[in-house]
Amino acid sequence: FCACLDYVKLDAKGDDGWDALAAKLRDDVVRVFYLSVGPALFGVISEKLNTTGLATDKSRIVVEKPLGHDLASAEALNAQLRGCFSEKQIYRIDHYLGKETVQNLMALRFANALFEPLWNAQHVDHVQITVSEHIGVGGRGGYYDKSGALRDMVQNHLMQLLCLTAMEPPAKFDPDAVRDEKLKVIRALEPVPLKDTVRGQYRAGSAGPSYVDEAENPDSKTESYVALKVNISNWRWAGTPINLRTGKRMRNRLSEITIAFRSVPHSIFPDMEDRPGNVLVIRLQPDEGITLRMTIKDPGPGGM
Ligand code: BG6
Repeated sequence: FCACLDYVKLDAKGDDGWDALAAKLRDDVVRVFYLSVGPALFGVISEKLNTTGLATDKSRIVVEKPLGHDLASAEALNAQLRGCFSEKQIYRIDHYLGKETVQNLMALRFANALFEPLWNAQHVDHVQITVSEHIGVGGRGGYYDKSGALRDMVQNHLMQLLCLTAMEPPAKFDPDAVRDEKLKVIRALEPVPLKDTVRGQYRAGSAGPSYVDEAENPDSKTESYVALKVNISNWRWAGTPINLRTGKRMRNRLSEITIAFRSVPHSIFPDMEDRPGNVLVIRLQPDEGITLRMTIKDPGPGGM
């Protein structure tokens, strides 16, 4: 594998190194430019790729979050990319979508007839989407302190999980059709009132130093934990809250989606009062798997 790799050092803003890069690139392949740099350099590198002729009509450009920090900066960034590449050449990626278990969400929902009839507010009491990380911010404090959990995790990874969980079945398994259905979910999200949010920051403990120490900013108010109760205003989901939560330096590393079904309308079993309904847990990582929790009776005479 190492024999396939070359390293070329260049000045993103200046002229040095671009000829050396051009000399390394072959013409008979699709060139993919993956910008593993801060977003401030997306625009200038795109322009360089264009003016030096390194980017051809067949090339692709790949960028990852943060794609701006608010609507205006995201639009400005998109305008810069679109100034140099056509929409079909631009890949805005989210690494969560590469996870097998995340891809399996579509399969679970749309390749099985079992759950879909129950997948709505009439039968689902609430949904929890949890991404809990054991690691802290470590050496990434400089970046993270300007983002926080909301921009680092929620607007991208958790939002993708929310869309895959809540969207309508697309007519085809095709990128535009899937995108259209995800977009409808996002458009149906209600603004989240402050009372339905929790923000937190980890302190020092046995697992390591505090957030403010790791971020090297003693006054930082950046959240390393966030929880939100969101509502989707459409026929399928109105009345079923979706709880999103993610944090760093939590006790365990765990990403999962929990679909909590409503309990039976009337119980004939005396021990079943206040029993939770069935729960479907889709464990994304680690120990990937799907669990369905059912109520059964205890062996022998006795309870449930
Ligand atoms: C990244 C975030 O996008 O995702 C990190 O910037 C986070 O802060 C990481 O730790 C989590 O990814 P994974 O694949 O380890 O769950």
